[in-house]
Amino acid sequence: MSGIVIAIDGPAGTGKSTVSREVALRLGLAYFDTGATYRVATLACLRDGVDLSNTSDVAAMVATMNVELILDPRAPRVLLDGEDVSAQIRTDTVALTVSKVATNLEARPILQEMQREVIRGELAGGYSDGRGVCAEGRDITTVIAPEADVRVLMTADDDVRVARRAGEGADAGTVREAVLGRDRRDSAVVSFHEAADGVHTLDTTDLTIEEAVGAVVSLAGEATQ
Ligand code: DC
Repeated sequence: MSGIVIAIDGPAGTGKSTVSREVALRLGLAYFDTGATYRVATLACLRDGVDLSNTSDVAAMVATMNVELILDPRAPRVLLDGEDVSAQIRTDTVALTVSKVATNLEARPILQEMQREVIRGELAGGYSDGRGVCAEGRDITTVIAPEADVRVLMTADDDVRVARRAGEGADAGTVREAVLGRDRRDSAVVSFHEAADGVHTLDTTDLTIEEAVGAVVSLAGEATQ
């Protein structure tokens, strides 16, 4: 049997990471958080003193950085030069600057190709042994994996999205800016608020995680029948 690709996109705070991880776990797939590639690229630039507004310097760093992604849904990790930087890429410093890399039109295609390679790798073998991957990120259903077996756009009301992120422990103003401000900046280069043709919309405003996971798993069941 060939592997399956499940692609989930949508703005921050819709539950896409939690749901994608759980779906991967249930179906024995790799879990691929494409946002982590933008985050680790940002960290690599910050560490090396690369000026984030210099698009070519950032692209050069992205093309040469030594990154390894561990796609285990139980413990996804990101290694930079062999060091586990999974916690560092989640700091406010990275969260508030990552849009500079995400909107860099020289760096984006390099990261996008890296992401396609990861997905191809999971269909050929990789962590999932060919079972496939549940990949999440804003342009995953449209640009990275338009041929995915299942494509889902997760949405939720703004206030619910901010409240979910605030529940993760950060200061309210920082959270509002990190969630809504970043969406606004990222919208300049990626469209992730409206579903493209063939993409299922899943509004999680009133759904529990369990319900959202169930919805994606049943779409996967339909796709592989
Ligand atoms: O999902 P996240 O918060 O980890 O994303 C980090 C940043 O990368 C954010 O600015 C959105 C951007 N991103 C993107 O442009 N395309 C993706 N496929 C994934 C993330």
